[in-house]
Amino acid sequence: MHLAYIVAVAGKGGVGKTTISAMIVQYLLKIDKPILAVDADPNSNLNATLGLKYKETIADIREEVKKQTPESFSKSEFFGLRLEEALVEGNGFDLLVMGRPEGPGCYCAVNNILREYLAKISKKYKFVVIDNEAGMEHLSRRTASDIDLLLLVSDPTMVGVNSAINAFNTAKGAGVKIKDITLVINKSKGELGPDKLKLIKNAGLRIGGYIGFQDEIQKNSETGKGVVEADSDLENIIDNLFKREKK
Ligand SMILES: Nc1ncnc2c1ncn2[C@@H]1O[C@H](COP(=O)(O)OP(=O)(O)OP(=O)(O)O)[C@@H](O)[C@H]1O
Ligand SMILES: [Mg+2]
Repeated sequence: MHLAYIVAVAGKGGVGKTTISAMIVQYLLKIDKPILAVDADPNSNLNATLGLKYKETIADIREEVKKQTPESFSKSEFFGLRLEEALVEGNGFDLLVMGRPEGPGCYCAVNNILREYLAKISKKYKFVVIDNEAGMEHLSRRTASDIDLLLLVSDPTMVGVNSAINAFNTAKGAGVKIKDITLVINKSKGELGPDKLKLIKNAGLRIGGYIGFQDEIQKNSETGKGVVEADSDLENIIDNLFKREKK
């Protein structure tokens, strides 16, 4: 049975998770298709970096299934149907927007159906790329399956590096199986200083690489253009990770 290779991107607010998720999708398209991009941030905006629009989120569908499943369907059948409809088709990839769950107590039957379906549809893809909301608490709740690669993103600040280390420790105890965890320093203007390198090393976290600060990325997001292309720094990082994995 084919299983998709699942990449999750996490880290502190504003460090570049969404930008990097879009870059990863663009780059993986050159390796294999189809890809499923999952926007798991309630402030959904991965679509913009991928140049897509969406109409419905999984949270919307979850409410709909709870309240108004037609009599001719079981909840699970209806969920499956609506979920297929909510997938946004891109060029070589699909986008699924999780949205913002309503109210507390989302651990309901419908959630289990969601997990079931996510596991089912992700098998149709070669890669699944998940853009997470800031922080790590959500990872265990939101993702159904094990993760092959967790990319922790930090900017070059001390605060960023410390939260990446915290995220690393949380991830290890989160009850989700994660095969590989790598730190990516985004918006870098050169290698990190020795104090930060030492902190990272002592935490047992590995640096996968650096992505330089690029005026163009910043400018495009300021003007609302926002569509992100694959980036050569990132391509090297991913290539190296995949090579390491094959060994
Ligand atoms: N390498 C880079 N060079 C320059 N600007 C960047 C780079 N990466 C990201 N940015 C800019 O930094 C800002 C935040 O990026 P992004 O939205 O990807 O971060 P995020 O971690 O997803 O944020 P949030 O926590 O709000 O979801 C954006 O304006 C983006 O264009
Ligand atoms: Mg984001």
